[in-house]
Amino acid sequence: MAMCPAREIISLPSIGPTQFKAAMRRIANTVTVITSRSGVAMNGMTATAVCSVSAEPPCILVVINQTNRSHALIERTGTFVVNVLSDDQEYLAQHFALKSDDPFAEVEYRYGMTGVPLLPGCVASLECVVESQTRSGTHSIFVGRVVNTDKDDGSPLLHTDGAFVKLERHRPA
Ligand SMILES: Cc1cc2nc3c(=O)[nH]c(=O)nc-3n(C[C@H](O)[C@H](O)[C@H](O)COP(=O)(O)O)c2cc1C
Repeated sequence: MAMCPAREIISLPSIGPTQFKAAMRRIANTVTVITSRSGVAMNGMTATAVCSVSAEPPCILVVINQTNRSHALIERTGTFVVNVLSDDQEYLAQHFALKSDDPFAEVEYRYGMTGVPLLPGCVASLECVVESQTRSGTHSIFVGRVVNTDKDDGSPLLHTDGAFVKLERHRPA
């Protein structure tokens, strides 16, 4: 393929959403549930757009659709928790990918130091205070400073090609 001269690259058209999603499906991601709370209103949403930013200060980022109910809660309170699901918690990933009027009605939880619900049995949880919010297209990128963590044994649940999968660990014979 011939390369464009530098001054023309900036005017290249974007690819369409179908082509974009087909490429993004090839990425394997760790599955999390991002929880949030404002008074009696609590929410959780399944999310894979989660990434480490820096260790000093300890920061992570999450990317949330501006139409999600979690977006409004996090924007209002400036707090969220990233619960990293274990590979036996696919039911939580399925549950929190759907909107429900009372998402915690049949889900076990406890409150963390920020007052946001934590899901027991996760391989890790990171309690965050929002440092910055950047709108990008349909989503917001929230950078959260991590104020508390918890971790447990087990393997993280993964998601790739539209399916939840377990990590296979190959141990030397
Ligand atoms: C595997 C998987 C990963 C997802 N990752 C994200 C994500 O990173 N960001 C996002 O905004 N939505 C993501 N979603 C969609 C939300 O989970 C879904 O829209 C949810 O209903 C939002 O809930 P809320 O409106 O109650 O906050 C994902 C869904 C699935 C199944």
